[in-house]
Amino acid sequence: PGTMTINTEDHLTIGGIDTVLLADKYQTPLFVYDIALIRERCREFKETFERKQINAQVAYASKAFSCLAIYQLMAQEGMSLDVVSGGELYTAIQAGFPSEKIHFHGNNKTMTEINAALDYQIGCFVVDNFNELNLLNQLASKKEVIVKILLRVTPGVEAHTHNYISTGQEDSKFGFDLMNGQAEQAAIQAIEMSNVDLIGLHSHIGSQIFESDGFLMAIDKLLSKTIDWQNTFGFKLSVLNLGGGFGIRYTEEDQPLAIPELMESIIDEVILKTTELGVEMPEIWLEPGRSLVGDAGTTLYETGSQKEVPNVRNYLAVDGGMSDNIRPALYDAKYTGVLANRVTEQPTETYSIAGKCCESGDMLIWDLPLPKVQEANILAVFSTGAYGYSMASNYNRIPRPAVVFVENSTDFLAIRRETYVDVMQLDIPFPTE
Ligand code: LLP
Repeated sequence: PGTMTINTEDHLTIGGIDTVLLADKYQTPLFVYDIALIRERCREFKETFERKQINAQVAYASKAFSCLAIYQLMAQEGMSLDVVSGGELYTAIQAGFPSEKIHFHGNNKTMTEINAALDYQIGCFVVDNFNELNLLNQLASKKEVIVKILLRVTPGVEAHTHNYISTGQEDSKFGFDLMNGQAEQAAIQAIEMSNVDLIGLHSHIGSQIFESDGFLMAIDKLLSKTIDWQNTFGFKLSVLNLGGGFGIRYTEEDQPLAIPELMESIIDEVILKTTELGVEMPEIWLEPGRSLVGDAGTTLYETGSQKEVPNVRNYLAVDGGMSDNIRPALYDAKYTGVLANRVTEQPTETYSIAGKCCESGDMLIWDLPLPKVQEANILAVFSTGAYGYSMASNYNRIPRPAVVFVENSTDFLAIRRETYVDVMQLDIPFPTE
């Protein structure tokens, strides 16, 4: 997708730049982000809302990939922002992100985090539980401010990748249960509180969703409750936040609906249901993470040692692994890749791509067809832009990779590579007498 092409040397290019040159310039492993593609995805979300004439906010769920430069890019694109921790919030503020467009999530926000968010005057708190509701009201009252809140509810719809299952009894650490009266109680309490202003509801049904069914079910449940609450205690739904979860294509097996298509069926359902029930049309807010940055990211590795298990498989190791992409080990996630320096060469071998961490589960791709690898090659693994760098670790004291943004044939280093000095930075020597 995006600006990927193959040049006359049979090298993979992204954003008009030869990835083999990038690997040489910045070393490997290296995350390369196609910025034009991220901008295009942002615009797809915003333009679909504009085309359908819906008042909306699209908040980038920055847990997918957060750093100074991505926050600045998202601000440039006019996005709102979803942060889930004091660390994400701090980085966003340092990036100059407009605080009124920041939404604060999380199931265990600390007093320090809430106070910081209040001081920054962020746009909205997504309140997850009763403890937080009380604490937020208290802290806001001390600062003599009234803060906008959404209640995060679990509508009993759980999305499992391209499927969903409807659970009567929702068992999740997040949010107020919509179906058992818990959410209603929270709404009544919030309305009575003096320092929070309840503007609507939030639900996030899951991640890597391919179809609209789960969203439509959640919409129906949320709007039915809304009309009940409107009639019984004067609740008004000004904002309906449907979370994130739009799926992307990792391998050819993944066939997610295109963003505008999925959005249109969501929007149409909200229009239909509000009209049917007599609820005033709310603003629709979304929180995509993966679908904005996922397939814009490519990881470049250098290939290294090999091991043959006769009649079983050939392992081909790369200079990174679960330290920069834990998703295969954690979720059995599938990826695909090519040799960036021999893109169109006919595959004659099948390699299983191993990471370099001391853990047998550290495998990136099983059974990848490739041309024969005899020396160091550059392996490009696709669609690593979401939950790759953001979930990276220093396991085995491996320094985290560099991240480079490419656009219009220029490259920009967004995160420099960690050094051994960085890795040791927090260590304090053992005391000696
Ligand atoms: N909003 C809320 C409240 C969320 O919990 C999430 C993701 C999102 C938005 C963004 O979802 P997205 O559009 O990226 O699917 N580490 C996992 C994904 C965890 C998602 C957690 N919440 C992975 O690597 O697949």
